[in-house]
Amino acid sequence: MIRTRITGVGRYVPPRVVTNHDLKQWMDTSDEWIRERSGIVERHWVDEKTATSDLAVEASKIALEQAGKKPEDVDFIIFATLSSDYYFPGSGVLLQHKLNMPKVGAMDVRNQCSGFVYSLATANAFIRAEMYKTILVVGAEVHSKGLDISTEGRDVAVLFGDGAGAVVVEGFDDDSDRGILTTHLHSQGKYAEYLWTEAPGSAGPRHISHEILEAGKAAPKMRGRDVFKHAIVRFPEVIMEALNTIGATLDDVDLLIPHQANLRISEAVRQRLGLPPEKVYNNIERYGNTTAATIPIALSEVLEKGMLKEGDLLILAAFGSGFTWASAAIRW
Ligand code: ACO
Repeated sequence: MIRTRITGVGRYVPPRVVTNHDLKQWMDTSDEWIRERSGIVERHWVDEKTATSDLAVEASKIALEQAGKKPEDVDFIIFATLSSDYYFPGSGVLLQHKLNMPKVGAMDVRNQCSGFVYSLATANAFIRAEMYKTILVVGAEVHSKGLDISTEGRDVAVLFGDGAGAVVVEGFDDDSDRGILTTHLHSQGKYAEYLWTEAPGSAGPRHISHEILEAGKAAPKMRGRDVFKHAIVRFPEVIMEALNTIGATLDDVDLLIPHQANLRISEAVRQRLGLPPEKVYNNIERYGNTTAATIPIALSEVLEKGMLKEGDLLILAAFGSGFTWASAAIRW
């Protein structure tokens, strides 16, 4: 049976660090408020010239090198982002061009915080269907250019950062059970308005206008408490769904990498599941929420720290705008 394995992982964040204290020059906030509510201490922001695909290029180069692959070895690109370089086309084709890759297909996935797990599940399905052998899966975001960094937008603005993570996945036809064991994807569009950027879009005026800007519709909006309430139910649910599918229990989990939404969410999920702190990876304090990039950035750090060994059971789980939520169980 063909198994999909992650053979290379890379991360890249822009060099500019913006601390909670730095944010005070634009909005009425405090380091204590942000730390207490989210666990975030600092995040990285791009400069004016840098776009989402530029971050993805750097993360992808590292992932490819780690996998021992050249850009021409990749059969397909899946690019998860909510902050693409342009309204269209998506960032996947730009990555293909910037890495000077052959004319392979490139697909953008728009599933926000769940985007990376959705993309990994898609890559797994393509590989197991023997459509492709080697796929580059990327999660990358430039949030800083789209946030409302005034006091009005502070509840959202303090939470998000820029960054990219990339993985190379490959198919192996051998007797080993190492690789992606199962994936689970969910959505509930009735909550779309709980975490969204409303305009511009085809539901309203297609072009940006003073009216849209003045109404605050071009910046992300969130019903924070509702997001929290749903997240702490959906994370455990989708993690258990993955474990039940493979006949495993929470005791079998060696490491959980949750989407880095908010330290309070991750901590509530950990407690609900009864997992010890050392089995749940958190790095939100240094990056903020980088949406589709959080899981591959975290995975790259976990590997660098030697926290995963061959045969370990790794669980990835995400929840975010849509609402969407997802999980993957991987035998490392
Ligand atoms: N700095 C200082 N004060 C702030 C800030 C800020 N950045 N943002 C809001 N406040 C103020 C509010 O204006 C309010 O003031 P008021 O009492 O005078 O009206 C006060 O702080 C409390 O606001 P609440 O909204 O009640 O704050 P709450 O305790 O609910 O925390 C938060 C808000 C952190 C967003 C919380 O609801 C939460 O953790 N939600 C989870 C959502 C989340 O983290 N999403 C991440 C992205 S989505 C994802 O990845 C799944």
